[in-house]
Amino acid sequence: MSGANRRRFGVIGAGQMGRGIAQVAAGTGFSVVLCDATKALAEAGKSTIGASLAKLVDKGKMSADDRAALLDRITASDGLAGLAEVDIAVEAATENVDIKLGLFREADRLMPKEAILSSNTSSISITRLAGATSRPAQVIGMHFMNPVPLMKLVEIVRGVQTSDATYDAVKELSIQLGKTVITSKDAPGFLVNRMLIPFLNEACFALEQNLGTPEDIDAGARLGLNHPMGPLELADLIGLDTTLFIAEVLHREFGDSKYRPATILKNLVAAGWYGKKTGRGFYVYDDKGQKTGRSL
Ligand code: CAA
Repeated sequence: MSGANRRRFGVIGAGQMGRGIAQVAAGTGFSVVLCDATKALAEAGKSTIGASLAKLVDKGKMSADDRAALLDRITASDGLAGLAEVDIAVEAATENVDIKLGLFREADRLMPKEAILSSNTSSISITRLAGATSRPAQVIGMHFMNPVPLMKLVEIVRGVQTSDATYDAVKELSIQLGKTVITSKDAPGFLVNRMLIPFLNEACFALEQNLGTPEDIDAGARLGLNHPMGPLELADLIGLDTTLFIAEVLHREFGDSKYRPATILKNLVAAGWYGKKTGRGFYVYDDKGQKTGRSL
């Protein structure tokens, strides 16, 4: 089956990334099954998408009819049950190997045998996830960037056993979703996070060595390098837990001390300050997600 014929889309995980992927897929005309641990969590994810689209309607960037039609294309699933009806699924659960392996086993059991099972993982080996399934040739990495509706890239990651047919179908689908594709081999951090995470971690070292304030560090990257966000505010957006997890994968898998996570990053995560999603990371955020001040 080519990418163009895969019209039924499953998303596993109704968190920040899963919601973004579901929104983009439904906005492209796919019928989307949004899964989370319970139907209530999947429904809550769908409501959050609805609230985000309502802001676009208020700004005159989307019609109320288009918003309603997009939401109608998203069905909240009870657990993974809805995956029995999909042509392709993207797993976007918490960045935790055991959770993902469990989900891959269950999704593999439920999905039609010709369906593709992809992961939005930012650092876990696709080959390892594929090994938990009976369809390793149809397992692939489909790594979207945060925030998914606004970011143009999909990084496709080929596992050792990924077939050319799977790769071609996912590339075609990603382009249909309006994204530009890059392809990475299956190695820790793939391409994007191999470059990004050492940069964010180095900003953490600069902060803990008092080279400058968080505002200095972020303005340095924004105004001096023309990055849209500074590294500390970007880490807050990605989630400090996710940032630390990827840094730990790079450190462990390459066995090179240059990747060791900064203590300040570990401490903020230990404190439960995961960034924007918990209202506090390097900065403090109000309930609308607006930055209100510095955290430390
Ligand atoms: N759906 C559709 N459109 C949306 C939207 C949504 N959910 N949310 C906002 N928009 C629209 C807005 O209405 C706005 O439209 P106009 O410009 O026409 O008014 C437009 O998108 C821009 O919105 P904002 O003003 O909020 O955005 P901004 O210009 O301030 O940019 C940003 C925000 C895109 C996040 C920008 O700051 C940026 O690019 N930051 C860097 C993000 C980045 O690096 N992401 C990658 C992280 S790494 C990763 O994800 C990989 C990993 O594994 C860790």
